[in-house]
Amino acid sequence: MSESILTNKIRFLVKPGGVLRGSIRVPGDKSISHRSIMLGSLANGVTQISGFLEGDDSLATLKAFRTMGVTIDGPHDGRVTVHGVGMHGLQQPSVALDLGNSGTSMRLLCGLLAGQGMNLTLTGDASLSSRPMRRVTEPLSSMGAAIDTTDNGTAPLHIKAVGHLDSIHYQLPVASAQVKSCVLLAGLYAQGESCVVEPAPTRDHTERMLRGFGYAVTTDGNRICLDGGGCLTATTIDVPADISSAAFFLVGASIAQGSDLTLRHVGMNPTRIGVINILRKMGASIEISNQLQVGGEPVADLRVRGAGLKGIQIPESQVPLAIDEFPVLFVAAACAQGETVLTGAEELRVKESDRIQVMADGLQTLGIDAAPTADGMVIRGGKMRGGRVDSHGDHRIAMAFAIAALCADGEIVIDDCANVDTSFPGFADLVNSIGMRLEIG
Ligand code: S3P
Repeated sequence: MSESILTNKIRFLVKPGGVLRGSIRVPGDKSISHRSIMLGSLANGVTQISGFLEGDDSLATLKAFRTMGVTIDGPHDGRVTVHGVGMHGLQQPSVALDLGNSGTSMRLLCGLLAGQGMNLTLTGDASLSSRPMRRVTEPLSSMGAAIDTTDNGTAPLHIKAVGHLDSIHYQLPVASAQVKSCVLLAGLYAQGESCVVEPAPTRDHTERMLRGFGYAVTTDGNRICLDGGGCLTATTIDVPADISSAAFFLVGASIAQGSDLTLRHVGMNPTRIGVINILRKMGASIEISNQLQVGGEPVADLRVRGAGLKGIQIPESQVPLAIDEFPVLFVAAACAQGETVLTGAEELRVKESDRIQVMADGLQTLGIDAAPTADGMVIRGGKMRGGRVDSHGDHRIAMAFAIAALCADGEIVIDDCANVDTSFPGFADLVNSIGMRLEIG
């Protein structure tokens, strides 16, 4: 690893303007990639994965399972082979599991490992070590797990061996797929039926993939239940392109007049398509074709063309369905005509950075009237100028400001961009191949 990556001094310098044209496939879905390693490791038999995201986050999950004794071949061009060890075959690691920047790894592993009868420590980088973990340790404690956090409720997490877990019926206090998944994964090891009730629909990849591995999960409205004590049977997984990565181009091609871009094989799970619903409401031109199902997940090709966007009141029902896309949706709002108002999105304050504050600061630097609120933002679309902004090490903030250059009238310099590799390795080369001018400095 180069010195500059170690010191996180990667900087993007993005020339203004440009038109996006071509046909691309963005990297694999991060959420599905994590889960494919987790469930493949616990299955009986060999799971073959294609389209795996070779980003730092999903690789952190992969490495954690290797550390716990699972043989995993790859990734080679997105292909990974997981030699499952069965529900009780993981080995106690002799070192802490370092999950880097990845909240999904930490929260899901916490549930999956709580009932294994092992003593473990989960650690992460500075960002992950400041994110709230009581949202997972509290329900797990009610199941009988023993997990210590810092006094602030953050990582490192120390999981202690317990004899068994009790089942739980848990009403989620926040609409979080990570918390839901954590409880369901712990429920695999609990005696009896565990159920989670969610306040609003959140991504359901865990439920879909458990079924793909032959595990019965029932979904009845907002209530998801499974019985502990079953087993998983290895399968084949085709990871679709990540709609959260495609989102940068859905916005980019929409705001760059004259653009005509096709995004192939994009995951279209109904719990993830908020970005399409919101952009269409703003006036975007997005055509959906080649719809098919791969391993229980819908995919499609998306053709997006430049369109004049208008500001909207974002429906709160769409917030959990677009939770990772707000950094770039704020850019869409900044380039739209009129006012866009987001409410009900306080969760954005506890992502890889405080995405409300960091995006408002950056947009203001670029001359946009962006007013942060406790649970969202009010953005008045306007003329965007060039400038220097700080991503605060947040991958999605870095990429959102790179896309902003398409409608800016001066160069945008973005600091602290190394973490783009957590979810979108190859971002710079890909954007340059379709009409942007981004240099890494
Ligand atoms: C994820 C769930 C979301 C999302 C994260 C990935 C997952 O978090 O922000 O990037 O894979 O389950 P929350 O469920 O906490 O909102």
